Amino acid sequence: MNPVKHIAIVMDGNGRWGLKKKGSRNLGHRAGLNVIEEIIEESIKQKIKYLTLFTFSTENWKRPNKEISFLFNLLENFLLNKIPKLNKNNIKLKIFGSKKKFTKNLQELLKTSEYKTKNNKGLQINLALNYGSKEEILEAIKILINQKIKITEKNLTNQLYSKGVPDPDILIRTGNTNRLSNFLLWQLAYTEIFFEKKMWPDFTKKDFKKIIDKFKILKRNFGAI
Ligand code: IPE
Ligand code: MG
Repeated sequence: MNPVKHIAIVMDGNGRWGLKKKGSRNLGHRAGLNVIEEIIEESIKQKIKYLTLFTFSTENWKRPNKEISFLFNLLENFLLNKIPKLNKNNIKLKIFGSKKKFTKNLQELLKTSEYKTKNNKGLQINLALNYGSKEEILEAIKILINQKIKITEKNLTNQLYSKGVPDPDILIRTGNTNRLSNFLLWQLAYTEIFFEKKMWPDFTKKDFKKIIDKFKILKRNFGAI
């Protein structure tokens, strides 16, 4: 049985779900947040060590301001309300992505959320926020060149936001869309990918468990036979 240490998720389909079911994309985002909490609970139960959630991409800035501010409001409220619960559950929070584009308030909130949970040893949740994989790789290469560090796979890996985190075993993308959208391009080299037809707000613990069970019995060769 394959061990599952790290699951990455592209939580896609909130907008379409919201429009169809509630007449507003934003209500889809709100519904999606409840699913995140369910998946966090199940990840703890399944003893998964790392959960990386694609929360906001470098390309999502192209959306209307109203939707962007709704998303960041959701995030702020989540962090303000849930940090004690995350701590109680021994969860460590990390941000993947540059914080520079955010308001000072949000930057502070993200930093304190990371700081307050940094000694927790349970599930590590990586929130990919203002995250783009090509930018991440380019920045890593620039650091290696500027600091005259030899360009090797290991050295580059150590300059990524995911430093110290093993590559994802599983990538799940909901929303009936089969693409990577500039997410963890380096880290997903040997990841098993599961595309789900369901929109994220309809995704359940049961769907999550089914994927994990399927993964556990896969034969993984890593290029060998
Ligand atoms: C994913 O859902 C959430 C974010 C990118 C913030 P979408 O908002 O992309 O939903 P669709 O794809 O438009 O339905
Ligand atoms: Mg989408």
